[in-house]
Amino acid sequence: MKRIVILGFMACGKTTVAKELARQLDCNFVDLDSFITERHGRSPAEIIQQDGEENFREIETLALRDVLQNKDVRVIALGGGTWTIPANRTLAALHDCETVWLDVTFEVCWNRIVAAATARPLAPDREIAWSRYESRRADYGLANRRVAPTESDSVQDVAQQVGEEL
Ligand code: S3P
Repeated sequence: MKRIVILGFMACGKTTVAKELARQLDCNFVDLDSFITERHGRSPAEIIQQDGEENFREIETLALRDVLQNKDVRVIALGGGTWTIPANRTLAALHDCETVWLDVTFEVCWNRIVAAATARPLAPDREIAWSRYESRRADYGLANRRVAPTESDSVQDVAQQVGEEL
């Protein structure tokens, strides 16, 4: 089985779907944001706020490289911006990953961003979040697969759709 990389916009459900997919497939899963938080003792949001996005992207690429080097990890959830960085797409290709875009509507993502306790410095208001959402779609479209869950789909349904897509 190829390794599976789940990507998409902030709050599209990458972590929960990847975790559920790993449960269904009975394999190991890593959430890249959590990996970075453990490694650096600061969350991606804190690193962005304190050191700037550019520094965060360097940290993120190194983290992805190291996660991909661990062959036991079969499912990986990226951060919302990871896939927009060409070096990260190259890493996924070099490791022959199946890449799956969770294409969730902006409204659903935005409502979750507002409701979440998590800080998201790259989506400080609706307008900025919307323009980021729009400008990233072309990159997300470079994934091998696309799954477009609806609001009524449960996390189990979405993970199953991803499994069927592969
Ligand atoms: C980011 C999304 C975040 C996190 C970082 C940057 C982005 O992850 O990696 O704050 O650029 O969209 P989530 O997609 O889990 O919010």
